[in-house]
Amino acid sequence: MIDSAQIAAVIEAAESLAALEEARVRLLGKKGEISSLMKEIGAMAPADRATFGQKVNALRDEAQSRLDARKAILETRAEEERLAAGWIDVTAPNPASRHIGRFHPITLLLEEVIDHFTGLGFSVASGPEIEDEFHNFDALNIPKDHPARDVWDTFYTTEREIPRTHTSSVQIRTLMSQKPPLRIIAPGRVFRNETIDATHHASFNQVEGLLVDKHVSVAHLKHTLETLVAKIMGRPVPVRFRPAFYPFVEPGLDLDAQCVFCEGRGCSVCKHQGWIELIPGGLVHPRVFEFCGLDPHEWQGFAFGMGFDRMVMMRYGIDDIRRLYDGKLQLVRQF
Ligand code: PHE
Repeated sequence: MIDSAQIAAVIEAAESLAALEEARVRLLGKKGEISSLMKEIGAMAPADRATFGQKVNALRDEAQSRLDARKAILETRAEEERLAAGWIDVTAPNPASRHIGRFHPITLLLEEVIDHFTGLGFSVASGPEIEDEFHNFDALNIPKDHPARDVWDTFYTTEREIPRTHTSSVQIRTLMSQKPPLRIIAPGRVFRNETIDATHHASFNQVEGLLVDKHVSVAHLKHTLETLVAKIMGRPVPVRFRPAFYPFVEPGLDLDAQCVFCEGRGCSVCKHQGWIELIPGGLVHPRVFEFCGLDPHEWQGFAFGMGFDRMVMMRYGIDDIRRLYDGKLQLVRQF
């Protein structure tokens, strides 16, 4: 006679709902093993029938509850397998629309320039885009009500703060927070009330440079800018200095590069000069050191502030500054 352990073994062996149904038929079906036991009752002595019947009933109840429990387990397992097979990763990238992002040409060239200067021992400094008059003007030796201020076409906020007109404000912040000797470049956005055209924008990028040490001369500045221009243009380009006036440098200079389009012969880009005005700079004015609490007899330095967009345009042959800022993807997709 089948016993409890055998019933359990038959049911637990079923690994699928179909196999479980076979087990049910084998145990409880009309011709199943437990049902067949009932048929033996007729051949028994009446005294034994009651106990035997009870045993068989107990076996049938046990088989049924084991079948129910096993069914629940197998159903859960089947559900899990269904989910696993049909699982969708809603975060997976769509292979049909895989656009690879590009860096903006300003970013590309800036990375190169930062690389160049960090190789020369400069570090990268920054300052706020909304400045105050002290950092943007006063400490740069540009007094209030002095005509020199007009050069910068300044925007003012209603609180008389200044969207900085140049990155030279970072010179002041650096001189007041770091101990010389020091070497920094400060890339960043500047803002001017300009009419926008192919070569002017109301917001553009500058890269400021500042080196402070003992015994710094124009020769250091010239060599630094010469190697910078060569780096940006990918080959050595003749350069020259012209005197220029900026209140925060003395002497003040403008660096011209020989026109890379006509190699100095004269063309429409250089307005037949053979030279392109590229980078203003000079030696840090003693008054600037004084404003920042440094002794001008002890320290010397050079500073420059290049209009970076023009570099980007020359390097990549982009002829309209507005292309750099209109946010259209046609431009960046070319890089
Ligand atoms: N800040 C000046 C400008 O934007 C450029 C400059 C920087 C000149 C550093 C001299 C030294 O016009």
